[in-house]
Amino acid sequence: MKFEGRQYHSLWYENDKIKIIDQRFLPEEFRIISLSTCEEVIEAIKNMALRGAPLIGVASAYGTYFAYRQCFSAKYPEECYISLVEKLKNARPTAVNLVWAVEQINRLILSGLELERILSMVKNLENNEIKCCKKIGENGSVLLKHIAMAKKDGNINVLTHCNAGWLATVDIGTASAPIFNARDNELDVHVWIGETRPRNQGGKLTAWEYFHENIAHTVVSDNSVGHLMQKGMVDIVITGADRIAKNGDTANKVGTYLRALAAKHNKIPFYIAAPLSTVDFSLRSGEQIHIEERDENELKYIGETPLIHELSPVMNHAFDITPAELITGFITERGIIDPKDIKRLSL
Ligand code: MRU
Repeated sequence: MKFEGRQYHSLWYENDKIKIIDQRFLPEEFRIISLSTCEEVIEAIKNMALRGAPLIGVASAYGTYFAYRQCFSAKYPEECYISLVEKLKNARPTAVNLVWAVEQINRLILSGLELERILSMVKNLENNEIKCCKKIGENGSVLLKHIAMAKKDGNINVLTHCNAGWLATVDIGTASAPIFNARDNELDVHVWIGETRPRNQGGKLTAWEYFHENIAHTVVSDNSVGHLMQKGMVDIVITGADRIAKNGDTANKVGTYLRALAAKHNKIPFYIAAPLSTVDFSLRSGEQIHIEERDENELKYIGETPLIHELSPVMNHAFDITPAELITGFITERGIIDPKDIKRLSL
């Protein structure tokens, strides 16, 4: 994506390190930081310097490579490596891409591949995620084209939630990919972005991306999206996903479920855009997905300003589960998939 005239990925490998755009400082400050150890990758995932399921996956693949590189010269290399990789797998619980990517690279390490080859496989995994996003863009923009053709004014209003853009995926994004593709094909597209309390990924990150990509967008309060749908101001909902169970139940940023319910009631198509690396084929249904609970201070404060009485108890679930029956389809690298058909796919 373009920022101040330069093309960036949200993560790249340079001089034995990965560089990332530290997402905690956007939109005020564009800050790039370097990570060169597995511990630094774990910390960046935990403190959300990097976030979004596919990006967490790619960073974890590098983290696994770093763990191997670091432990090579340790006194007990095997114990050192196993302990780091275990910590990495547990950095955040909900996005399946983390464990998926660690396991992909771990298998190669256990098969005895040399360091240089492992690094090139990590880069393959990264490039493959980018290719998947491009395909998601092509496949999803067909849906947007149909909407434009069916409307007199040709204007398409997409509602999205959280950030499933290039910041969350190395490049192009998942939910944003059909929008970028539609814009490139000169469709008239406008995006409603829910602020996404409590961390405001929608307002802080997605709006920042669309502003720099010159895509028409409007940020709205999280609570107003039902009203927009009722007033006929939304043609389609597209969000990303953190983990999809075999039956199509989907974990994504908390609030996604409420959007899906409101979309159903208003007969608005509701799509999840995600690569197949986000499907957890070991889970029967969404009930088995572990939902992350985050620090209560994310809810209690905005910056330094308290919002809630300090003694009032709060609960801060970071994700929720949208049942498959509320999902019109999945926009994937292999086309638009009916929720009932997810279980028939494999990687
Ligand atoms: O807590 P976050 O910001 O990591 O949550 C991210 C989301 O819920 C995204 O919508 C999801 O990871 C899809 S990213 C392509």
